Amino acid sequence: MLIDKMITLENVWFSYEDEHYVLRNISLSVCEGVTVIKGPNGSGKTTLLKIASLLLKPKKGHVIVEGTSFWSASRSVREKLRRKVVYVHEKPYLFKGTVYDNIAYPLKIRGYDLSRVVDVAKEFGVGKILNTNVNELSAGMRQLVALARTFVFKPKYVFLDEPLANLDDENKSRIIRIIEKYARKGIAIVVATHMNINFRKEIVSKIAFMNNGVIVKVSKYK
Ligand SMILES: Nc1ncnc2c1ncn2[C@@H]1O[C@H](COP(=O)(O)OP(=O)(O)OP(=O)(O)O)[C@@H](O)[C@H]1O
Ligand SMILES: [Mg+2]
Repeated sequence: MLIDKMITLENVWFSYEDEHYVLRNISLSVCEGVTVIKGPNGSGKTTLLKIASLLLKPKKGHVIVEGTSFWSASRSVREKLRRKVVYVHEKPYLFKGTVYDNIAYPLKIRGYDLSRVVDVAKEFGVGKILNTNVNELSAGMRQLVALARTFVFKPKYVFLDEPLANLDDENKSRIIRIIEKYARKGIAIVVATHMNINFRKEIVSKIAFMNNGVIVKVSKYK
């Protein structure tokens, strides 16, 4: 695997409160394709995702982003690296405004062309509600808008926390297909879930099983 396409956690420990470690000595790398983090409630999946997506700083250990030790790097290097990474919360926060406003936002702030918005909205099943205010959406629709807003600007690393949690069966299969499609395009997608998600084998790079703050097993496919 190429180091310039990877985020690696090296011997990471994390606690929210002193001395009570909810992640213990985690080592894991994520690269192109889908990485699945599986484990029961409270096992540490969300915490691991937030560390790998550069939102939380480990108490011990290192997060290496494309060869750079993230938390030892200068502020400007950290900002540059952060722009490649998106974490999508299980109950995503949407900006005030319409569905269109939300999906267009990442393109606008980067000065990109907005022509993709309509096609991406269609792909995620929200093409017909572009003018709807996000306050009026169900939890499932909010999830679809959050995912459209994430993939529209083609980030390099996407961390999805329980992405299927609020979706009905039709939207679950839609999202699985979209995750597979973007993984094939070379995006590293990490999915934390307590469910069994049937991704096509060929796009799954590895499955890490967590329990009580540790990775108990990693199954590798590539
Ligand atoms: N903000 C916080 N402050 C203190 N403890 C926390 C905080 N967030 C999580 N924890 C604790 O850290 C541990 C790991 O939680 P985490 O949310 O990472 O697990 P999870 O596998 O994502 O669980 P779930 O399946 O419920 O989403 C749990 O014991 C949890 O209670
Ligand atoms: Mg969680």
